[in-house]
Amino acid sequence: MKELAWSHIATTVLRNGKTAFIRPLEEADRFELLQFGQSLPQDDLLYLEDDFLNPDIITRLINARFASHWRQCVATIDNRIVGYASVRQLPGWSNHVGRIMLLVGSEWRRCGVGNALAHSIFEAARDLGVSKVVVEMLERQAAGRAIFERLGFTLEGRLLAHARDRAGQDHNLIILAYHVDSPTSGSHLS
Ligand SMILES: CC(C)(COP(=O)(O)OP(=O)(O)OC[C@H]1O[C@@H](n2cnc3c(N)ncnc32)[C@H](O)[C@@H]1OP(=O)(O)O)[C@@H](O)C(=O)NCCC(=O)NCCS
Repeated sequence: MKELAWSHIATTVLRNGKTAFIRPLEEADRFELLQFGQSLPQDDLLYLEDDFLNPDIITRLINARFASHWRQCVATIDNRIVGYASVRQLPGWSNHVGRIMLLVGSEWRRCGVGNALAHSIFEAARDLGVSKVVVEMLERQAAGRAIFERLGFTLEGRLLAHARDRAGQDHNLIILAYHVDSPTSGSHLS
């Protein structure tokens, strides 16, 4: 059995008193991850790079847990997956850049899960050795922006009418970035 290069595990007590566990994605998560995907609102599914409703894609994610350019973690409460985060090293001339995605099940939002997962996946990005980390979101997604700005990310781009929701409505996309070696990025982080 291969050893995971990154094996960060954290627990966090949420605002509602529940404890969430943050850990790398595991082989045994296949069914739970599919259940998590099926519980997501339609528009959240659009945000995902991979189709979480497709069992083959879930298998691909599970198998990718040993990939050298990819880290994934989940948040669980009472053994149910309530959140997922990943960071992938981009290909080609951006291979020094990691792109984060973060998603919390709608019934568990505003409890602190997103914040805890963001910290863990940011640590994972550092473990990947990238010198820049980016995260994309709709401009109106205030929660994601608040979380990553608190980590020291700053706005680097705004793409107009770049995302289209299920109702056919266009939204601006923003890109927040963190430069790992820059003295001005996230100077409050350890
Ligand atoms: C973004 C997301 C992961 C946040 O998850 P969450 O578990 O609700 O986040 P938390 O409870 O840890 O909240 C963290 C901070 O976000 C901000 N926040 C959360 N929900 C918010 C809302 N509805 N409006 C404004 N700010 C909000 C707050 O500043 C909050 O910190 P505070 O409660 O200490 O003030 C979740 O909303 C989600 O999955 N959204 C869909 C996907 C997405 O937008 N991903 C963002 C790309 S990073």
